[in-house]
Amino acid sequence: MNQNSINHKNILVTGGAGYVGSHACVELLQSGFNVVVVDNLCNSKTESLSRVQHITGRPLTFYQHDIRDKSALADIFAKEAISTVMHFAGLKAVGESCEKPALYYDNNVYGTLALTEAMADANVKKLVFSSSATVYGASDCRQYSEDLPLGAINPYGRSKVMIEAVLRDLSAADTINQHKSPWKIALLRYFNPIGAHESGQIGEDPDGIPNNLLPYISQVAIGKLAQLSVFGNDYPTPDGTGIRDYIHVVDLVKGHIKAINALEGEAFKSGGCKAYNLGTGQGYSVLEMINAFETVTGQRINYKIAPRRTGDLAECFANPALALKELGWKAEKNLDDMVADTWNWQTKNPQGYIQ
Ligand SMILES: NC(=O)c1ccc[n+]([C@@H]2O[C@H](COP(=O)([O-])OP(=O)(O)OC[C@H]3O[C@@H](n4cnc5c(N)ncnc54)[C@H](O)[C@@H]3O)[C@@H](O)[C@H]2O)c1
Repeated sequence: MNQNSINHKNILVTGGAGYVGSHACVELLQSGFNVVVVDNLCNSKTESLSRVQHITGRPLTFYQHDIRDKSALADIFAKEAISTVMHFAGLKAVGESCEKPALYYDNNVYGTLALTEAMADANVKKLVFSSSATVYGASDCRQYSEDLPLGAINPYGRSKVMIEAVLRDLSAADTINQHKSPWKIALLRYFNPIGAHESGQIGEDPDGIPNNLLPYISQVAIGKLAQLSVFGNDYPTPDGTGIRDYIHVVDLVKGHIKAINALEGEAFKSGGCKAYNLGTGQGYSVLEMINAFETVTGQRINYKIAPRRTGDLAECFANPALALKELGWKAEKNLDDMVADTWNWQTKNPQGYIQ
């Protein structure tokens, strides 16, 4: 890398040991940023961070803390000269959020309040937040643009809607209070992140039965799970199964680097809080995903058709035009890359991270 292009800014990555966060750490380190991770390891292992350092050949700093611990965060901000925060820390299982809603509001919403309070105290006011397409809820539209009304349909999704509202309000208060250094916030609404780093050293390591389709398919392929259930084949889609927008995790984290750069630029000169969809804009059905997996890996997937699940939509994919226009970002990897990289990670790490 050209030494002149190295930007030695320090980025605090909350939830950096997790699936998306660990890929973001790789991308940040490879782009010349310094990385400080805070993670309580409730859904991850430090092995992911060791591998991030192995892939990049660069060190990072790790603090094992909960983001709800304000004094721990204050100590980190006092020590580390952080310029921007990438906020991934959160709980993300929709089913669990229906069983334990208070846990989700406490961890995700209160956690973000504690984080932003510590940031404001340290005068660190640039934030890139992991939001989700679930904020759109059960919209009738097939293609989601950022200006659609929000209306999540489960506690996990509502925790994201609430956090977005908090962050918008913090930013709006700047205009009233005329702050010298206003909040600059990018809300990144992910569609369905899949895939893994091309090295196969880091990837998604679900605890127990995977909630997401591709990790489920790959665990069926290696024989860890017996059979995949395809929920509904009578949707109004070409093959009757649900269509979603899947995005390679490496493309997704590249969008975060673009967002950090945008926060430094003209568009956010006077501050602001803006949402961007990060998706490919292309949907694939469940059967297309199974076919792609079988073609790329040569493995047969044992599946059965099961009844529809309540709350599932027939079709949803991103309109990613705003991210292209304002962040200069678009997804580059295709479905075969997503499947091949998932399989590479799965076969190299059949038991996930072992520690
Ligand atoms: N993976 C997806 O499908 C997806 C889709 C949309 C949005 N998101 C969001 O992206 C973010 C990252 O998701 P992921 O897939 O990498 O999840 P993940 O569970 O792999 O990573 C989250 C990390 O945050 C940590 N964490 C959770 N609560 C914490 C707390 N209170 N204090 C400190 N650390 C804490 C966990 O230990 C974990 O390492 C989450 O906010 C998630 O809601 C994920």
